[in-house]
Amino acid sequence: MLSTFKEEINVGKFYITTPIYYPSDNLHIGHAYTTVVADALARYHRLMGEDVYFLTGTDEHGQKIQRRAAAVGKEPQAFVDEIVANIKKLWKTLAISNDDFIRTTEPRHTERVQQIFQRLYEQGDIYKSEYEGLYCTPCEAFWLERQLVDGKCPDCGREVERVQEESYFFRTSKYADRLMAHIEAHPEFIQPVSRKNEMINNFLRPGLEDLCVSRTTFSWGIPVPFDPKHVIYVWLDALTNYITALGYPDQVGSDSLFARFWPAELHLVGKEIVRFHTIIWPIILMALDLPLPKQVFGHGWLVLDGGKMSKSKGNVVDPVVLVGKYGLDAIRYYLLREVAFGADGIYSEEALVLRINTDLANDLGNLLHRTLSMVEKFADGVVPVPGAYGPLEKALINEADETWQAVQEHMEKLEVSGALTAIFHLIGRANKYIDEAAPWSLNKQGNHERLGTVLYTMVEVIRVSAVLLSPYLVESPARIFAQLGLDPEAAAIGLEAGSKWGLYPAGTKVRKGEPLFPRIDWEEAAEVTGVKKEAPPEKPVPQATTKKAEPTATAATTQEQITIDEFAKIDLRVAKVLTAEKIEGADKLLRLQVRLGEEERQIVAGIARYYQPDELVGKEIVVVANLKPAKLRGVLSQGMVLAAGDGDNLALVMPEKTVGDGAEVR
Ligand code: MSP
Repeated sequence: MLSTFKEEINVGKFYITTPIYYPSDNLHIGHAYTTVVADALARYHRLMGEDVYFLTGTDEHGQKIQRRAAAVGKEPQAFVDEIVANIKKLWKTLAISNDDFIRTTEPRHTERVQQIFQRLYEQGDIYKSEYEGLYCTPCEAFWLERQLVDGKCPDCGREVERVQEESYFFRTSKYADRLMAHIEAHPEFIQPVSRKNEMINNFLRPGLEDLCVSRTTFSWGIPVPFDPKHVIYVWLDALTNYITALGYPDQVGSDSLFARFWPAELHLVGKEIVRFHTIIWPIILMALDLPLPKQVFGHGWLVLDGGKMSKSKGNVVDPVVLVGKYGLDAIRYYLLREVAFGADGIYSEEALVLRINTDLANDLGNLLHRTLSMVEKFADGVVPVPGAYGPLEKALINEADETWQAVQEHMEKLEVSGALTAIFHLIGRANKYIDEAAPWSLNKQGNHERLGTVLYTMVEVIRVSAVLLSPYLVESPARIFAQLGLDPEAAAIGLEAGSKWGLYPAGTKVRKGEPLFPRIDWEEAAEVTGVKKEAPPEKPVPQATTKKAEPTATAATTQEQITIDEFAKIDLRVAKVLTAEKIEGADKLLRLQVRLGEEERQIVAGIARYYQPDELVGKEIVVVANLKPAKLRGVLSQGMVLAAGDGDNLALVMPEKTVGDGAEVR
């Protein structure tokens, strides 16, 4: 039998929920954000071998929905049916792996809510009285005069309405002390900590009023079973979805979903509904003598530069459009990586494109592409058996192991973005490893044993990275596996097992395919969505800000416009400076020996006034690689370096982080 505050946890299970969404409109990128994070957590725990249950759904009753339906001349049920179908389609588009989808208009829910209400009434926790107070319909929330901010709803800032009606009340006050004790004894219950303090200081300390839990002035809700002119308050109806979906109260036997999964490990909610989940919901559970969820995590909002997304502002970002334009994994990656979970984050399409181009196309895509090209070129496409690992390999293998540890630590703390940062750090290290191990030189030297070790290491670090990425990206790990010549389904082998070094079967033939993430042309992308191009990006966007300049001259502003095809004729590459020296008799010039992937060149640059030769060695710079060779002061120059600035302030253009020489600049 379940007892109050049962402390045992079913080890190895993970029940995670999203809020159930109001189907008052199609969902936008902000809603997708919550659900994609929940999905990554669910996938992570599944890939850790745990028994996972992932629930989402829709919150279909209440005054707000009734009014929205009436405004468009529809019956509420027909109105929500249409939107719910779109929501389900959206989760499919985003590859959300939920185990169930609960609609609060389904009989399995409505009947159970009535049973719960009846029980609370019979045991004296619900009583009838008169309500006179304030109500915010968009938030479906009751407020006291003293809680308003400038006379408006403290959550959404909109007008509140005065309501006076006969209502049923829930004796929340009776449980306030127990709740406070629970929150204090379980610091992990409300996360992040700032939200916990807010709940204690703003709601619990000032004292809880009994909560009005029924309404009579509209009808779109679940009728109170013994007094059907009342409908049950929508939040009581909605919150109980977390247990009705598991079968409570009628299916609680030992083989039920309820026995298997309750209490939830995690309710993931937006910051504005933490209050409902950490005050009202626990009190309902206490009154039902049920254990409380282990944790409620209140995340921040994804907002636009100009503030919140809303239909009325016409600035709603549709995730379906974005997936169509940029691809599923790109959108998932952006949502999971861009914002530290918990904090508010700004959505911008420029930042999304930047993430795609830098992390996905450049770091990950290039790593795969370079590796497979070299396996093809140097080993006929068959991954060699590695010989003895040297210090470079050992350092990389160690890094892979540390990444796996870091991923686990981050995910335990719900730092999804941190986990991805760690994985992409490994990917960056892998790119650097290639530069350092220089397989092209080994090939030139005919050092086949060492070349085999390096090629194997390159392939294996990609395989491990693909496995580690599998909770977050849903298409790319399988595509990477396929290109590595492996069974695509094996990417989902599990994190613990799959992240072990050395599982790649040497002797496998690789199958180089399409680029994983083609680079996006921001100018074109912006045009398609009508994004204002003049808005300054938060970080430089490569396409928009790459400037060309004569090495010694002032960086000129381009006056004449060129087409993208004309621009594409210029082969801009990252080059690594191998040596640099002054040229006798030419005090402005430096002679640079640079490497562009597999090729070395000499470039003469007029930068001697700005750089000492030594400080350039080892740096990655950007060069025009297809410029006709020319002689400067009699010295051959096979390209041109890019620099920005003028007068005394001239700086070479360098990638903001190591990308590997030979990389294209677009
Ligand atoms: N129906 C209630 C939840 C009931 S749960 C028992 C509700 N629905 S909602 O559709 O308005 O919001 C659902 C979730 O989406 C909330 O957690 C909310 O914070 C989240 N988001 C809505 N807009 C968002 C952003 N712009 N950014 C991040 N999350 C956003 O509240």
